[in-house]
Amino acid sequence: MSQLAQEADSQTTGVAELDSLGDWEKSHDCNSLGRSQLDETVTLTGWVQRRRDHGGLIFIDLRDKEGITQVVFDPQHNAMAHERAHALRSEYVIAVQGKVRFRPEGMTNPKLKTGEIEVIVKELKILNTSKTPPFQIEDDIEVNENIRLTYRYLDLRRQKIFGNLMLRHRAAQLTRNYFANHGFIEVETPVLTKSTPEGARDYLVPSRVNPGRFYALPQSPQLFKQLLMMAGFERYFQIVKCFRDEDLRADRQPEFTQVDLEMSFIREETIYRLIEGWIAELFRQLLAVQLPLPFARMTYAESMERFGTDRPDLRFGLELCDITDLVGATEFRVFKQAIERGGMVKAIRLPAGGKLSRKDLDDLIEFAKIFGAQGMAWIKIQPDGWQSPVAKFLSDEVRAKLAERLQIEIGDIIFFVADQNKVVHDTLGNLRVRLGNQMGLIDTSSYNFVWITHFPLFEWDREEKRYSSVHHPFTAPLEEDLQLLTKNPEKVRSRAYDLVLNGTEIGGGSIRIHRQDVQERIFGALGINQAAAQEKFGFLLEALQYGAPPHGGIAFGFDRLVMLLTGSSSIRDVIAFPKTQKATCLMSGAPAEPEIGQLLELCVKIEQRGRT
Ligand code: AMO
Ligand code: AMP
Repeated sequence: MSQLAQEADSQTTGVAELDSLGDWEKSHDCNSLGRSQLDETVTLTGWVQRRRDHGGLIFIDLRDKEGITQVVFDPQHNAMAHERAHALRSEYVIAVQGKVRFRPEGMTNPKLKTGEIEVIVKELKILNTSKTPPFQIEDDIEVNENIRLTYRYLDLRRQKIFGNLMLRHRAAQLTRNYFANHGFIEVETPVLTKSTPEGARDYLVPSRVNPGRFYALPQSPQLFKQLLMMAGFERYFQIVKCFRDEDLRADRQPEFTQVDLEMSFIREETIYRLIEGWIAELFRQLLAVQLPLPFARMTYAESMERFGTDRPDLRFGLELCDITDLVGATEFRVFKQAIERGGMVKAIRLPAGGKLSRKDLDDLIEFAKIFGAQGMAWIKIQPDGWQSPVAKFLSDEVRAKLAERLQIEIGDIIFFVADQNKVVHDTLGNLRVRLGNQMGLIDTSSYNFVWITHFPLFEWDREEKRYSSVHHPFTAPLEEDLQLLTKNPEKVRSRAYDLVLNGTEIGGGSIRIHRQDVQERIFGALGINQAAAQEKFGFLLEALQYGAPPHGGIAFGFDRLVMLLTGSSSIRDVIAFPKTQKATCLMSGAPAEPEIGQLLELCVKIEQRGRT
């Protein structure tokens, strides 16, 4: 029987009589006692982590948010407290008074900060009982995440997850101080507002007093922070909740927090320097890591070309290599057709990858198909020649050129994808990261930052059959590219930038449009007609006419940043009460069905369609 089950069994033996805290106040946290408090009488409060009975003595690991102290009940010291200590179970809440003493020879616990000492109890107060918790309150135990989220208040008692939130708290404090010290003013922007175009769906809130009308929860404070610049604030910042109804992943939540800022009379360089100073401060204070500054920079075009993505993980190599020009004339139908259709062929060389088994290769090919590739060709460079389903199509001349361009060595494997550019980049970009992880090529202790710059202003939206903004419609185009706006919109580069850390986008921003004529031209290129623009952002367009200063800014995903700072693999581990992948809160049961009366008041009727 497990310890928990045994305890559950014995829980029926009687309900402990409860004490009140009275005038007791704790004198120390449970991680703070050591040899310098020897013989002091102390008062500790907390939860019973574990009870052990050892011939006459009862040991309790007493836990609070800071740590654990061993407390001992000895019938010789207080027979009554010892007797009552038999009733203690996991997660009972107690307070004890007693004296600090060294643990006996051989009983010290070097893993525990308080492992040299224990507290021999004189008085015990049992402040509350607890049902047997659904999981042990300990780090490094396997617990189904749904159970953790259902009992989040118990999960948060675990040191690791509490530590994450503690670090988050400190990061928020440092952030506030840093920006305040740099002349930024913290301003709160509305939560009940109008739609902000950040590319996700809005959460809508019906208005009772304006039947049929809805507020949108902000996807970001974008429009308001620009209006603050027009109001003359010059430097604004906010640590702010944003809401986006989008498909969730490990690094996305429907409500999340941004560190959001905006500045007037500014250019990219100043923003980069300011942000680098802030990030370096966080790493120095929170992790004692000195980051080398300035961060690297790479244009979007170079990042796509070399890594197949705009958020490259630069901790390892495996760069993509364009071989379109070398294989266009081969007999291999797949390569030829892709190129004829305006696509490309790119390759990745995996050094020493020749040892991958057939099964490994099949798995990788299946993986490639997730990103739209029709297949993935490979060549193993063996001592006795090239082994491959496609090598027979490659002439000696093409082989020699491939060998040179890819710097092929014996023992390597080369992967090829031929398709439209986007598919090739998506597939090989993701394959690269997978291979980096699978082959252990990533130094997980390093932090690699890179600014990605000069994003395209527009991308073609196939479903909507029109251009859409890569960032948002208020991003300024590069001045020298403005002339391409009507003839070649997809060639127009923007003044947008992202900061990427180890392959995750942690922040993004841009210099904005501050001239109404340019803003209108951009709306025109996006196919947003004047009436629609007025309806959506009329207030911003109007404000642009009253002396809008040049301005720009950036926003960081605070949760993502804390996730990376704490080395967590999920954003949920750094949010106190996160939502599941289905955007539900397992603890509170949100979202819930409204009462009919509420709907009537709001003039909202629910159709059966879409209900399960
Ligand atoms: P953007 O949409 O790039 O820019 O968002 C900025 C940063 O917010 C984080 N982020 C998220 N984090 C968790 N869950 C989500 N669902 C989520 N969505 C975004 C990312 C991202 O880099 N107004 C602009 C900024 C600007 O131009 O100043 C904006 O919101 O880390
Ligand atoms: P097939 O002629 O479809 O049997 O493909 C022959 C080889 O080419 C197989 O190894 C496929 O995995 C590979 N292949 C198929 N389509 C592509 C593609 N779009 N890009 C690269 N390799 C491919």
